[in-house]
Amino acid sequence: MEQYVIKGGNPLVGEVEIGGAKNAALAILAASIMTDETVTIDNLPDVRDINVMLGAIRDIGAVVDRVDAHTVRINGSTINAMSVDYEYIKRIRASYYLLGALLGKYKKAEVALPGGCDIGSRPIDLHLKGFRALGAQVDIQHGLIAASAEHLQGTHVYLDKVSVGATINIMMAAAMAEGKTIIENAAKEPHVVDVANFLNSMGAGIRGAGTDVIRIVGVEKLHKTEYSIIPDQIEAGTFMFAAAATRGDVTVKNVIPKHLEATTAKLLEVGCEVEEFDDAVRVVCAKPMHHTQVTTLPYPGFPTDMQPQMSVILGIAEGTSTVTESIFENRFKYVDELTRMGANIKVESNIAIIAGVPKYTGARVSAPDLRAGAALVIAGLSAEGITIVDDIYYIERGYEHFEEKLASLGAQIEKVSSEKEIQKFTLKVS
Ligand code: UD1
Repeated sequence: MEQYVIKGGNPLVGEVEIGGAKNAALAILAASIMTDETVTIDNLPDVRDINVMLGAIRDIGAVVDRVDAHTVRINGSTINAMSVDYEYIKRIRASYYLLGALLGKYKKAEVALPGGCDIGSRPIDLHLKGFRALGAQVDIQHGLIAASAEHLQGTHVYLDKVSVGATINIMMAAAMAEGKTIIENAAKEPHVVDVANFLNSMGAGIRGAGTDVIRIVGVEKLHKTEYSIIPDQIEAGTFMFAAAATRGDVTVKNVIPKHLEATTAKLLEVGCEVEEFDDAVRVVCAKPMHHTQVTTLPYPGFPTDMQPQMSVILGIAEGTSTVTESIFENRFKYVDELTRMGANIKVESNIAIIAGVPKYTGARVSAPDLRAGAALVIAGLSAEGITIVDDIYYIERGYEHFEEKLASLGAQIEKVSSEKEIQKFTLKVS
């Protein structure tokens, strides 16, 4: 088992380059099998979840040619199985995107019910509602979702809740249905738009992605394309918050500043300075930070995937802040770990009440999930003394070369895999 060992206290200073958006890439990789021609995708993040998805695609028979760490060529003409193995679903929830992709292309798909980060109950009823509305027969038996249709018929779907996954899955299936589909109350996240742009570059007829009504005119066939994935707004936000927590000065490059507006707004509210450039943002946080209120909401609201990182900042800001989690009910599991580092946080239902402390103190903590893991690393970077973060497997699902990027900004952080290496690091930095 690997850990991060961190000696806190160094302000992060310098420039960091952001990779492609993991959550856009997962859906785009699934959608790439919807044509029999070869699709080239670049700006792919080289992280564990992406490699699992590529494994799932290869396993159903597609040709996956990894040109380099960030580029892949996929050909779906050789697909010979409509069933995605439980092994993949267990490791990444987003394998469920293969349901929409296979159903759209072959009118048949079978995928196990998903697992993923344990951040709360994560039903997929809305995905299935959409497939059924398109005319598919959908059954859940023995832990499997089986969807099939003679043909898919364009339809009108209203999503009772704003769901990124359901919006993308239904959009993929509808892209190859007969006639027109309208998705109402659709998710507006940048990665929904990116998937729509990708499908359109393959010849799909999708309009309105990025608004809450998406209109799709189905096509019979999709064709080859070359596509570059958008920058990861959550990776970018994580580095912006790491800069703030360490009172640093970091320029986060290769980003779309518009996608970071909610994150930027909160940094300004707590007293940091944020300068926007065409494709970069600079965060300077020299003064003490102060309290604020945050509620997670679908885009353009404050992202739930930035909630743990936000709480870490507020934990060392002056005064009492509140963080309301309105998307996933089980997303405060890191609070006990942060308390071990000296935070003063009380969770009542879906609200964390955070009384700021002057600083964290290093401790041994465990990453409970992907984003909370990154948040604990940020806490460690700002803390006095040594922090050890266990279970970094979660962090590696979504952050490429995380420790290397942080070290290039001046952080004292190493990835280790034994108690001996931890001791060695401790001796070196003390
Ligand atoms: C995606 C992201 C995840 C992010 C989340 C919210 C990927 C791979 N993951 O997850 O990182 O935290 O968006 O921005 O892109 N819901 C239902 N029924 C459904 C589907 C969802 O009730 O059929 C509910 C969920 O329980 C949750 C809310 O809708 O309360 C939003 O979930 P959703 O947007 O679907 O999240 P994911 O797509 O799973």
